Amino acid sequence: MYRSHTNGELRLSDINEEVTLSGWVQKVRDKGFMIWVDVRDRYGITQLIFDEERTPKEIMEQAKSLGREFVIQVKGKVIERQSKNRNIETGEIEVLVSKLTVLNASLTPPFTIEDETDGGEELRMKYRYLDIRRNPVKDNLIFRHKVTMEVRKYLSDGGFIEVETPYLIKSTPEGARDFVVPSRMNEGQFYALPQSPQTFKQLLMVGGMDKYFQIVKCFRDEDLRADRQPEFTQIDCEMAFIEQEDILNVFEGLTRHLLKEINNIEVDKFPRMLYDDAMRLYGNDKPDIRFGMEFGELNEVAQHKEFGVFNNAELVVGIAVPGGNKYTRKEIDKLIDWVRRPQVGALGMIYSRCNDDGSFKSSVDKFYDQEDLAKWAEVTDAKAGDLVCILSGDTNKVRAQLSALRMELAERLGLRDPKVFAPLWVIDFPLLELDEETGHYHAMHHPFTSPKPGQLELLDTNPGEVKANAYDLVLNGNEIGGGSIRIHDKKIQATMLKHLGFSEEDAKAQFGFLMDAFEYGAPPHGGLAFGLDRLVSILGGQETIRDFIAFPKNNSGRDVMIDAPAPLDDEQLTELSLKLNLKS
Ligand code: AMO
Repeated sequence: MYRSHTNGELRLSDINEEVTLSGWVQKVRDKGFMIWVDVRDRYGITQLIFDEERTPKEIMEQAKSLGREFVIQVKGKVIERQSKNRNIETGEIEVLVSKLTVLNASLTPPFTIEDETDGGEELRMKYRYLDIRRNPVKDNLIFRHKVTMEVRKYLSDGGFIEVETPYLIKSTPEGARDFVVPSRMNEGQFYALPQSPQTFKQLLMVGGMDKYFQIVKCFRDEDLRADRQPEFTQIDCEMAFIEQEDILNVFEGLTRHLLKEINNIEVDKFPRMLYDDAMRLYGNDKPDIRFGMEFGELNEVAQHKEFGVFNNAELVVGIAVPGGNKYTRKEIDKLIDWVRRPQVGALGMIYSRCNDDGSFKSSVDKFYDQEDLAKWAEVTDAKAGDLVCILSGDTNKVRAQLSALRMELAERLGLRDPKVFAPLWVIDFPLLELDEETGHYHAMHHPFTSPKPGQLELLDTNPGEVKANAYDLVLNGNEIGGGSIRIHDKKIQATMLKHLGFSEEDAKAQFGFLMDAFEYGAPPHGGLAFGLDRLVSILGGQETIRDFIAFPKNNSGRDVMIDAPAPLDDEQLTELSLKLNLKS
């Protein structure tokens, strides 16, 4: 038996018990006549004591040879500590060791295994197994487990069946590039790894499974960010014989359940916001509504004077920064530099100070009088003491820029409290999105999303205006889930694919299997997928999903621990028929 107790378990009530403990050496304090060793495992830390008077000499010697991260087993008696440590749960006792076995020695770890470590990100990733021994990482993984278990329980109790779908498939377009896998047995042919199980879950509905879920890996070859990994996990769900309202209710229920069980927070019914309103009021389809600072559109009250910048703009739009009038001129100049950074891309920023005496002072006083500025304050809902910040330009661009500024200022003002949760549904997304570079429309969600009833005809005349039965679940400014009601009619699916630029042959080659299935009694169906990594990290009060993934990739998509991706040797390349292809 390696252990009778874990290292987080022993208390004063265990005094005088003979115990066996195993774990890693956290720390050795050697006073010569007395040695203390902290032994650690997943459950906690227990202090071991060796002393000249009570411990045999050879065990004292053994203890002196211990190094950090050695794996040891000890037998001994639980005794009361002289000086108690109230910071740890086992802090009232220690174990007087009578037998010590070194189960495995350890090299000195390249960084300290402490909550605050001296190891940089890259080093910790290279030795991720050591990083996982640290509480912050370990606790995040345990937290993830807890969320995952609650999800499984809730969905299973609700009649959902977990079904596994294949990883070696044909491309499912979700807007990213595919990772592909060469097939040895089918020369020159490739599988794609699923960007999501989308088509399979729809086929499960045709198969009559009715309520499906799967906690599943998805693979997307796209540029990485704090909230994106090339392989990530979805809670993927689909239901048959439902309408949008049913889906929103079920998954709002799941989210509310998680907030209650995991965070002990009760939230009211989630607000629902039209996509168009989200864009107009927040410049963003995933608004953070923990705070206000809603956009005020100023065209009407700013385009009647000689100020060319505003007059030539498609949109003039501002936000009121609470308490912003206290910013010095220098601070405002810095803010202007901030919006001019290439990442944000604004050309400049106009501002108007709302003074305590009700007067205004703007950077364009030459063009606008107090009456104009009062209207700006009214439209942006600015109070005395606030600062109105205004950007102008092409609607889409300027909304994105002001949205970035809004989030930055909220961060600086401490309005993005990770302990506050503000979920909302964004609904009625456009069906199609214009790719400004190519001039082509592509599916905003995916090609299987159904247009709103009665809007199919608009596809020919005004494709950009067609709204979809598509919805996103947003939590604290992050898209944590998205889904739609699907097309379940072959003809409509074919029309949709035609509008997306697929020739009849291409549509048949890529999606023939799905459209064929629709001819054998496909029920009305729809669903959604949560991004589990995002959901977990936000519930955990953070926004970097890497911290909640056991073995994540770095920003270049590399696993620096196992050194992947890596080249293949010639033999393997030949076997996969890749060598010739590469040369030709
Ligand atoms: P979508 O593409 O919106 O929908 O993905 C669903 C959710 O998955 C998360 N997500 C990611 N998380 C981490 N890293 C990534 N690279 C990444 N990409 C997406 C997001 C997102 O909301 N098949 C549809 C769902 C459906 O229609 O039912 C789909 O995959 O949180």
